[in-house]
Amino acid sequence: MIEKAIEILKSAKSLFTLTGAGISAESGIPTFRGADGLWKNYSATDLATPQAFRKNPKMVWEWYHWRQGIISKAEPNPAHYALVALEKKMERFLLLTQNVDNLHRRAGSKNILELHGNIFRTRCLACGEIADYEKPPKPANSTLPKCTCGGLLRPDVIWFGEAIPQNIWQNSLDFLSQADAALICGTSGTVWPAAAIPEIAQHSDTKIIEINLEPTPVSSIVDVSIQDKAGEILPKIVAALSQ
Ligand code: OAD
Repeated sequence: MIEKAIEILKSAKSLFTLTGAGISAESGIPTFRGADGLWKNYSATDLATPQAFRKNPKMVWEWYHWRQGIISKAEPNPAHYALVALEKKMERFLLLTQNVDNLHRRAGSKNILELHGNIFRTRCLACGEIADYEKPPKPANSTLPKCTCGGLLRPDVIWFGEAIPQNIWQNSLDFLSQADAALICGTSGTVWPAAAIPEIAQHSDTKIIEINLEPTPVSSIVDVSIQDKAGEILPKIVAALSQ
């Protein structure tokens, strides 16, 4: 299967890549689903919806500060770096990530679109200003983060029930329609609209490679499905492409 993935990537000039929480798992950041997934122990309805934030902004911020703390201590892993190398090899490359952890950027990837926002940015509910938020997590009893205009700040991430940024989605589809290959890595393929990417790629005859620890709902339609750790497989693929 790795050989087949290498063949596809060798002849590709334009590569679309979609990543999910699994690519950061080897950096020590918990995924959402699976045995130790965040949604096993925490309720998405209570923590990742606009209604939850309206009802209890303090609890939602505490959860985001806790996650910011974990992510701040994490480093990009070999899978992130392999994607940086792949970007350099391709004539055209786009990385669409569902991750909010900033690790692709920290690794050095350049052409990144963040579908679900970024946990280190805030958005003001009053004036709409988006700002970086790199302060260390605050103690649980601190006051809520406020904008200079006085409005309440929220994490600049997409919550369940919210629309994803249309320009990001449209740019992704435009790129995908011209891509020779699509690499789908570390995502359960269960959250829309990202879950539609493999099927969209299939309709435009784009070769699809999936890397995931386990089979997903799209494994049956991809050209190559590799069931292993992204941090082990991606560097092997990059090394073979460099020979
Ligand atoms: P999930 O937690 O749903 O899925 C992570 C996937 O990564 C699973 O299919 C795992 O099998 C796989 N995986 C775990 N470790 C891996 C490794 N080392 N190498 C390769 N694969 C590995 O995460 P996402 O698909 O990203 O949205 O979830 C999508 C969205 O659902 C998230 O962006 C988030 C979540 O709720 C919002 O919060 C809006």
